[in-house]
Amino acid sequence: MNDLLGLADLSAREITELLDLSQELAGILERPIKKVPTLRGTAVATLFFEPSTRTRTSFELAAKYLSADTVNLSPQGSSLEKGETLWDTARTVAAMGVDALVVRHRTAGVPERLAALLPVPVINAGDGAHEHPTQGLLDLLTVRQHFGRIAGLKVAVVGDLAHSRVARSDLWGFTALGAEVRLVGPRLFWPADWEELGVPVTEDLEAGIRGCQVVQVLRLQRERQAAGLIPDAQEYFARWGLTPQRLARLAPEAVVLHPGPMNRGVEIASPLADGPASLVARQVTNGVAVRMAVLYRLLGGRAR
Ligand code: CP
Repeated sequence: MNDLLGLADLSAREITELLDLSQELAGILERPIKKVPTLRGTAVATLFFEPSTRTRTSFELAAKYLSADTVNLSPQGSSLEKGETLWDTARTVAAMGVDALVVRHRTAGVPERLAALLPVPVINAGDGAHEHPTQGLLDLLTVRQHFGRIAGLKVAVVGDLAHSRVARSDLWGFTALGAEVRLVGPRLFWPADWEELGVPVTEDLEAGIRGCQVVQVLRLQRERQAAGLIPDAQEYFARWGLTPQRLARLAPEAVVLHPGPMNRGVEIASPLADGPASLVARQVTNGVAVRMAVLYRLLGGRAR
């Protein structure tokens, strides 16, 4: 593995190895001093063209816990504002000697193009509605910790499917490891290529989540939707919102995931998000371990 661009590119063995490594490195997060010298002498740059709290912060923490130096670039305040292209900006950062570039961009395929252009590993931190591979890995790790396995589980991914890169990374990751995945959401939000995804897609919420062990609730991505696509958040919640009552009736054994940030009272009810079935906090913690594993995997051999 030279870059991490998507889970669709990885074999079940590669995904499992990353999960095993994440589990091992998660132990560092339990220590009083969360620092090991593994990546001392390396530098990691993050370049985010879209907002982020979880992914950007956890990549930075992951790098720091492994003793890598970090630098965070934003379009605001950089020479991108003077018209420098993304490609020239990335080449410039790479020429300063960084050992990996973590990139988030609203356009699908940008990390792949950067990977072809740059002499250092590129990690996709989310590209358009294409993939968010470290989110997929942390979802897998969280579920594996809870159930002790992935194979054979029924996993429903619910909500705004068309705009979600998380939906795709989860789909590829969970199916690669033997789970049965269903996509559930309003017809308006089905991906254009839904027939090619190889899994059931339904707008019947009740049938979609019935009997599942895992329900991943997706954020309603209003920033990506054409104006007026969803007339009313309350209406969406009434029809598609996940509540403790709905879950208890349809999938009483299920745990609930949400990639964050959550729209409380829109796609998920607060009592569910904060209740015993929710693994949201565990997902966030696992995000650090997974990103440590990815950095270690890509940079471990380069450490000076
Ligand atoms: N899940 C996720 O990508 O969250 P952020 O946008 O806060 O990074």
